[in-house]
Amino acid sequence: MSFSLHRRALLLGLLLAGGGAFAADGPPHSAPAATMTSPAQRPGHAAIASANFQATNAGLEVLSKGGNAFDAAIAVASTLSVVEPESSGIGGGFMALLHRAADGRDVFVDARETAPAAVDSKDYLNPDGSPNRDHSLNGPLSAGIPGEPAGLVWLAQHYGKLPLKASLAPAIRLARDGFTPDARLLGAIADRQKELQRWPASAAKFLPGGQPPAAGAVWRDPAQAHTLELLAEQGDQGFYHGETAAKLVKAVQAAGGRWSAADLAAYRVKERTPISLDYRGYKIVTAPPPSSGGVAIAEILNILSGFDLDKLDQAHRVHLVVEAMRRAFRDHNDYLGDPDFVKMPLDMLLSPYYADGLRQTILPDKATPSSMLPMSTARDPGMHTTHFSIIDADGNMASITSTVNYVLGSTFVAEGTGVLLNDEMDDFALVPDKPNVYGLLGSEANAPKPGKRMLSSMSPSFVIGKERTAVIGSPGGSTIITQVLEGILAFIDGEDAGAIAAHKRFHHQYMPDEIAVEQGVFDPATADALTKMGHTLKPREAWGFMNVVTWDHRSNKLEAASDPRRPSGLGKVQ
Ligand code: DON
Repeated sequence: MSFSLHRRALLLGLLLAGGGAFAADGPPHSAPAATMTSPAQRPGHAAIASANFQATNAGLEVLSKGGNAFDAAIAVASTLSVVEPESSGIGGGFMALLHRAADGRDVFVDARETAPAAVDSKDYLNPDGSPNRDHSLNGPLSAGIPGEPAGLVWLAQHYGKLPLKASLAPAIRLARDGFTPDARLLGAIADRQKELQRWPASAAKFLPGGQPPAAGAVWRDPAQAHTLELLAEQGDQGFYHGETAAKLVKAVQAAGGRWSAADLAAYRVKERTPISLDYRGYKIVTAPPPSSGGVAIAEILNILSGFDLDKLDQAHRVHLVVEAMRRAFRDHNDYLGDPDFVKMPLDMLLSPYYADGLRQTILPDKATPSSMLPMSTARDPGMHTTHFSIIDADGNMASITSTVNYVLGSTFVAEGTGVLLNDEMDDFALVPDKPNVYGLLGSEANAPKPGKRMLSSMSPSFVIGKERTAVIGSPGGSTIITQVLEGILAFIDGEDAGAIAAHKRFHHQYMPDEIAVEQGVFDPATADALTKMGHTLKPREAWGFMNVVTWDHRSNKLEAASDPRRPSGLGKVQ
């Protein structure tokens, strides 16, 4: 029996084993619609949490000029492109979950990158059939067609109050006048110095005088300022056509990439229906495909909703959460991809009935070996993606995760543009049975195709309760999903924004079959109990950069917190 047939038989067994009435509660996944959450009252003041204080301040500046949360989001994202290029930028893409207070509409704005029309999977294979990591992680072959510029234009046109020019002004100012890079950026440049040196425009931008900028030096990026100005003045036309597009295509092709002018001209933002579900009295609104995050979070919460977690000690509680993670990540690898290209059984994956079946396969105090269900080994990816959360005075909310993928993306800057390209092509399942840089496997559903979006783990989310609401998200490759899940659980347990951002974390992604643990997350007795249940615990250092804003409807108090693991972030209430 082939693996997939075997899996389907197993799933059928699980479905038959499941109790309860069938309820296909998954939202339609292709309709460009939106969910509605009941509008709450106005908070009357605003809050922003982002990974960089200059980006938070840029958002606050735009709010004080009369902008709303969505204008502020444009200011934050574009400023991050300048001051935190190791994580995100206009050469990358984002996924944004928005709540519009005026009509209670929740919508997911997908500004994810796409594969160029000339994509060829053979580019990512060595002659012996092994993965060519250099081509999937470095240089122009690793770069998808950027979605972030179109996403920023879309936010301004459809949701903002201010002209795009006003919201991009802080980023343009910082790029033109300069800023002092923080230690994290300097560290990222030093880590990627070897790759940056390969491309003259990358070296010119990141290695002035052949070295990373000196600590404390002011760093200017006039080429990116110019590219942002063209975007501000001309919208999509200013990036996907004309001067910038011509420079991008010329630079990519000269260095062996496969982009064409038609790829840039064809790029479109997609609006999608968020995934939403009820969990313990809260409405969870989260990311649909081409993110795998929302499907996995919903599957995990649906499984957990059948357990009384409050009655359990920490070891048993963690055991159940890990077993739910294991099962959700298995489905992630098998089924998920770009909804415009693949049919996914979302009604099944999001159904409480399906979760009932999975729940019954979990033993109360014994780990299920992942090899009973199959996969591979993850590398520690570090934190190179960025998330920010905003609530404005009217109750508009923006939860946005933005990325160039690996640290400093492809390390390839297109000559004359200041645009650092992403290396998002590695998020496709490029080589059968071989994991990507985050240890994730995939199936045909996530195989690269012309114009297709690569699967993401980005999980910008809202947790909406009668008394409290949270806007939450995180970077972290495959751990994004579990970090956001644990943030949601901590919020529902009553923790405030600061405690949620600081919360110690753990992660399981089915394969490798181990629980990645942050130092101090479990006391020795819990660690011992988990080991006795058959779990393998593996220390992991890279966690966080969660940025959370919470809103207490009873007191109308907002709180904003940036992950204390990184000093450069700022959560601020205005
Ligand atoms: O979209 C994704 O899932 C990845 N490109 C995110 C990468 C990331 O979070 C890097 N940080 N560790």
